[in-house]
Amino acid sequence: MRKLLATTAMTLAILGGAAQAAEVEVLHWWTSGGEAAALDVLKKKLESQGVTWKDMPVAGGGGEAAMTALRARVTSGNPPTAVQGLGFDIQDWAKQGALGDLNAVASKEGWDKTIPEALQKFAKYDGKWISAPVNVHSTNWIWINKAQLDKAGGKIPATWDDLVKVLDAMKANGITPLAHGGQAWQEATIFDGVVLSLGADFYKAAFIDLDPKALGGDKMIEAFTRMAKLRTYVDKDFSGRDWNLASAMVIEGKGGMQMMGDWAKGEFLKAGKKPGADFVCIRFPGTQGAVTFNSDQFMMFKVGADKQAAQLTMASDIESPEFQSAFNVVKGSVPARTDVPDTAFDDCGKKGIADLADAAKNGKLFGSMAHGHAAPAAIKNAVYDVVTRQFNGELDPKAAAKALADAVAAAKG
Ligand code: BGC
Repeated sequence: MRKLLATTAMTLAILGGAAQAAEVEVLHWWTSGGEAAALDVLKKKLESQGVTWKDMPVAGGGGEAAMTALRARVTSGNPPTAVQGLGFDIQDWAKQGALGDLNAVASKEGWDKTIPEALQKFAKYDGKWISAPVNVHSTNWIWINKAQLDKAGGKIPATWDDLVKVLDAMKANGITPLAHGGQAWQEATIFDGVVLSLGADFYKAAFIDLDPKALGGDKMIEAFTRMAKLRTYVDKDFSGRDWNLASAMVIEGKGGMQMMGDWAKGEFLKAGKKPGADFVCIRFPGTQGAVTFNSDQFMMFKVGADKQAAQLTMASDIESPEFQSAFNVVKGSVPARTDVPDTAFDDCGKKGIADLADAAKNGKLFGSMAHGHAAPAAIKNAVYDVVTRQFNGELDPKAAAKALADAVAAAKG
């Protein structure tokens, strides 16, 4: 009898544990309208399987604030179940031994075959899957208000000179040509496109190989000259503005265009706008055929045995082809698997999927410096610092190129 009671108690404890365990606590920075709508797809999917979602949002594009919040949680020995992470940050946490092991799910579902190499580089450590790739975003995009483009002559800019002409025409029409939020990560996002516009080889030499000659040379001076030119097209209230408010300016036609990753498309869609009719998506002029990417992944932290089942369910849900389509259609990104049909995607999404495949095939797919996929955080932060100082007029282009080479050298240690 005593044995029976003990067994029953144990079963209850396990069941109780399991019930409690059917919860995932998720730390992320998806707080804008479009981002929240996309996240909801994941929340609902988990909830339909009896998994409760405990939300831990930390606003701030690029995830700097979220990473600070995460460090505090890990230091106190209480990491969330899953955390949005980018590129080199994921590998850093893996190196510190903080991440779990998704191999059971990954091998059962054949992730090795369907998730491209460029993402595996960040999602695996020491032969183990440690995070679940959600999407592929890219930063070398421009989002243009269609009516304002038409008023500015209607020509889609294909070169830097064309772009300047459109911006000038928009200025003459009395709107803010470049809707921008003055935050370091947003300036760095524009800089990805500007550097890439001076050549795929140049981007690679400067941001992937961290070649001091490329970082401090004439082309980099030219890149900073372009940034100084772009600075002349922002409004006087740009400082500190959130990226989604800059998107809203373009949506409303108060701004002509925004240079931003394709998460901006999520804002246009959320506002009921249609690609082609209300807005136009183009690659940053001069970067056609090349892609600077960043992939949001959910890093799965080492959690107690009671929480692992829900964690694995979340990982498996994320990689299902249906979810990959449903989520990315809303988010503005493209699938993290190569076998998801593009049927449900709008024209910008279809272009994003095709561009990614072409760039990968032609050796023109590079990690985004601004979003943690080109170099580790110390180097990324050094770049942020110089780019934002220059954008705010503290450095001329020549001094900025020198400062960039010096800052990256110092950060490399
Ligand atoms: C993330 C996107 C996010 C954007 C703005 C980027 O770093 O990869 O998913 O929408 O920041 O918050």
